[in-house]
Formats: sequence, structure tokens, C-alpha cells
Amino acid sequence: QSEQSALTADQATSPSTGTSTNRSTGERYQRIRAMSVNIAAPLTPEDCAMQTMPDVSPTRWHLAHTTWFFETFLLKEQPGFRPFHSDFERLFNSYYNSVGEPFPRHRRGQLSRPGLEETLQYRQHVDVAVSQLIDQGELNEHQRYVLELGLHHEQQHQELMLTDIKHVLASNPLYPIYTKNTATNNNTEASLSTTLQWSETPETIVEIGHNGKGFAYDNESPRHRELIQPHAIADRCVTNGEYLEFINAGGYQQPEHWLSLGWTAVNENGWKAPQYWVRGDEDWRQFTLSGLRPLDLHEPVCHVSYFEADAYARWSGKRLPTEFEWEHAATANPTGSVFADRLMESGHVIHPRTAGASDFTGNVWEWTGSQYLPYPGYRPVSGALGEYNGKFMCNQFVLRGGSCATSSDHIRLSYRNFFPPDARWQFSGFRLADSR
Ligand code: AVJ
Ligand code: FE
Repeated sequence: QSEQSALTADQATSPSTGTSTNRSTGERYQRIRAMSVNIAAPLTPEDCAMQTMPDVSPTRWHLAHTTWFFETFLLKEQPGFRPFHSDFERLFNSYYNSVGEPFPRHRRGQLSRPGLEETLQYRQHVDVAVSQLIDQGELNEHQRYVLELGLHHEQQHQELMLTDIKHVLASNPLYPIYTKNTATNNNTEASLSTTLQWSETPETIVEIGHNGKGFAYDNESPRHRELIQPHAIADRCVTNGEYLEFINAGGYQQPEHWLSLGWTAVNENGWKAPQYWVRGDEDWRQFTLSGLRPLDLHEPVCHVSYFEADAYARWSGKRLPTEFEWEHAATANPTGSVFADRLMESGHVIHPRTAGASDFTGNVWEWTGSQYLPYPGYRPVSGALGEYNGKFMCNQFVLRGGSCATSSDHIRLSYRNFFPPDARWQFSGFRLADSR
């Protein structure tokens, strides 16, 4: 909507260079690119170089990789193109085998060069070239698609930067504070989580997937029909307080609640609580991007793996919703939309808020019980960009909704996030469902 009004304002002032559409596209490009640099701004250069586990990438790597994406898929095919640095193609290729051999993911933290300054120069260089291309106003349909994809890719990496930074800072016993901002999460009685309500759904056939309006990744298509079995779905996520009951009942010591692979993960990793929960003398605390804070029982439980979500659900006699049940419930619920004030561009604390009724988006990513699989008739986009989503459709689970670290213009009810079942460093929680 704000895009729309920006466009109208532009047209009214009749621009002297380029068309108004090019101008608003150029401004949007600059705005989204600037956000990545802003996310890195509170960090020291040393922070930006850290890789604290194989899944975490250094902030500096994210800044370079998102730049590489535009350089490789948009600029490289331009006549007279010269790369900023000939070795960056290999260093910052994440996983595109059809582009070349990528530098190993688990060794990204071993790269001391290029440093932060040179990385920012790389960004500048590519931004000038992309902006010129936009201003010329001669992008063909494919180039417009790649530009759009590149901006959504940038926003995906902005969330990954925040979750990776959280892991880096939490690894330090000093518990450094990323942002001092703690606004909006003061739980007064008025903001206590609500009593859980079950929404009853009879058997029905629903349309699932991208409806064709606006951007979507290829994995959200084709839109197709799914049979929904009679079930009930919770109107809010499981809270820290509820999850604490599972912990106190000995849930992490009782194999009967756990999938076999989950029980192995519990024991190999020594899991006793969600990631970032810290046992104090008397009670639990929680590491946040605003530092160590008392555990708030009314927030949705966050930083749990699929295995933990599934074990809690079994323990409570329920199950996780399928991704289709989730999409149906979120679509049917008029308040299940984006709460703009809850997302990171607001400058608020980057942490989940009190679990609220019908809070389907913008708080925590919600694990579903659905394997990440292609929709019937799925075709990856052609060429190297076909490697973006499709090749990961094995051994991962779908998460829905979007978190407190997702930009509001990057949230869609058809969005399919995916992670392996033992991943828990993302802002991941869950809601319950039950068969009828
Ligand atoms: C959808 C979040 C699993 O982390 O690799 C980033 C997002 N895709 N660059 C990932 C992504 C390409 C992706 N996840
Ligand atoms: Fe990427």
C-alpha cells in the first residue's frame, strides 16, 4: 500500500529523468539494500566475521553474498560487464552448482578477507550498476523478475543476519546487547496471552498456494486443491509458560514423547530447554537481541526445533497442523494479517510479543507437520535460479507465518519457509492442532 502511494506521489511531481515506475523501483532497491547495512551497523568488525556454528554465516558474508546475487544473476549478462573482484564469484556463491563450485558453507568464518570495508565497497559498486540499469528503464521481463527475486532474497538474508547475530552474541558469556531497544514488550495484564481457543473445521476442499497477485517464490506454486480432514486448530501459539510445564514434567528426559531422530538430537546436543533459555539461580532467563531478560511466560515459545515442537504436541495429546490446515486457518481469519508495528523496520525490539489470538504472522515462524515437498505439478524456474528452492525438497519441514525478524513486505500467507527438523536458531515456534 505504501508502495502504491509512493508511486502516486512520484507521478504527481513529474520526474525529469526516467519514468516514475523506474524511480520508485530504484528507491525500493536502495531502501531494501540499505536495511542490510543498517542491520550490521550496531556490530563491530569482529562481530561481523564470526561463525559460531556450521549453520551460522558471518554478517560480512551475508552482506557480500546478497551483493553477489545481483552481480551474478543481473549484471553479469550485461555487455561490457566486469566483476568487482574475479574471486568473489567463488567466495560468495552459496550453493548454485550451475554457477561454479561454491566455497564450503561451514568454512565461511575462516575468510578474513575481504574485510568489512572492502565488502561495503563491493556493495556500493554493485548498487551503482544496478541503479543505473533500473534508471535506464530497459529491463526485460526476465531482468525484472531477477531484480524482484534479488530484493526478496535480500530480505530473507536480513532475517538470517539477525538470527545469526543472535547466535554469535549468545555464544559470548558477556551476553552482549545488539539493540538497547526494549519497547513494546512490557506485559501488562491487558497483554497477557489469551485462553487457548480451538477453531473447529469440518472436512473441506481448499485452494492452496500463491494466488498470482504480487511476488511469490516458485515453491508456492502451482495453486491447487487439497482435502482438509475434520480437525481443530489452536487460535494462538504455545507459550513459554505452557512449554515450561512440559520441561517441568520431565519431557526432555522421557523418550516416549520423541521421534527417534529427535531423541538422538536431545541426547547428542544435551537439549534441556529451547535455545537461548538460561537457567538462573531461581528461574529461567532468556537471551534476546536486547540482552538477557526474565523469561516471559506469555510469549510464544521460540527457538525450538521441529523435534521439540512435535514432542510437546505428543506429550499434550495433540499434533502439529499440516501446512494446508495452517494456510486455511490463517486465510479464513481476518485478523491473521501483518501487524506492521511488530516487524523489524519499526525499530522495536526484535523479539516475539505476547501470544495473541489469531496471531498468524509476524511473531514466530510456526513449524507445521508437513514435509517440505513440491506441490503437484511444481516446476522450478529455469536455469541456475532453479536451484533456489527446489533442490532442498528432502528431509526438511515447512514453517509458516513469518517472525518478528521478517520484514512486513516479505510476509505472505502462502509463504513456505523450510528448515531441517533439528534447526532451532531461527525464530521458530508452533501452534497445536487435533484431529476430529
Ligand atoms: C528458505 C531460509 C531456508 O536459508 O537458505 C537464502 C533462504 N535462499 N538464499 C536459506 C535463502 C537463498 C533459505 N531458507
Ligand atoms: Fe542466499
